[in-house]
Amino acid sequence: MKLPHHSSALFTASLALFFFVVTAADPDLLQDVCVADLASGIKVNGFTCKSNFSADDFFFNGLAKSGLTNNTLGSRVTGANVQSIPGLNTLGVSLARIDYAPGGLNPPHTHPRATEIVFVLEGQLDVGFITTGNVLVSKSIKKGEIFVFPKGLVHFQKNNGKVPAAVIAAFNSQFPGTQSIAAALFAASPPVPDNVLTKAFQVGTKEVEKIKSRLAPKK
Ligand SMILES: *[C@@H]1O[C@H](CO)[C@@H](O)[C@H](O)[C@H]1NC(C)=O
Ligand SMILES: *[C@@H]1O[C@H](CO)[C@@H](O)[C@H](O)[C@H]1NC(C)=O
Repeated sequence: MKLPHHSSALFTASLALFFFVVTAADPDLLQDVCVADLASGIKVNGFTCKSNFSADDFFFNGLAKSGLTNNTLGSRVTGANVQSIPGLNTLGVSLARIDYAPGGLNPPHTHPRATEIVFVLEGQLDVGFITTGNVLVSKSIKKGEIFVFPKGLVHFQKNNGKVPAAVIAAFNSQFPGTQSIAAALFAASPPVPDNVLTKAFQVGTKEVEKIKSRLAPKK
């Protein structure tokens, strides 16, 4: 089919926009390496580069062992991002390990800067994400299987099994960022006003205060 001139221009423009949108992740690098100088006082988009680096800036052994899951939620995220591996600065990727006790939950959260792909190391998990149209996309996954959480969408993982579970998660960002929904709304500092939360959730101040007290950071 031959497209009229204006629609082919529109098609080209949409294609360009599509590729811009789908490739918009961390910016591309302009040199071989830019090992993060985490101590620098200079703030840029990412971190400034160290003048000197070694192999250890590209190394991390923190995902070898399972993280402690003896906390309220029964889960632990161990990041392997630019904060623990300075060499990842400007490279646009990172990993994490997440451990789950039986019954453990990695509560609903988003990563504003990355898509996440998880590989199950052990156990099984009920996982899901919610689209901007409020459709829940969920599945049970087990050892050796993979699931994807699209960039920016709210998602969670729950271990409904009787044994511990663990995953390795990969991200297309050196530092994907995590915003936990419950903590963002009910444990922010300074606090989100009660009258915002009572209206948003259609409940009373007592219910809001109760959730706030449960989620308050432990002193
Ligand atoms: C870089 O590291 C090497 C080896 O640790 C050291 O000898 C050298 O002085 C360092 N250079 C700078 C500019 O810090
Ligand atoms: C979790 O277990 C570790 C090691 O056994 C212990 O040091 C820590 O205090 C425990 N944390 C909680 C919240 O029970």
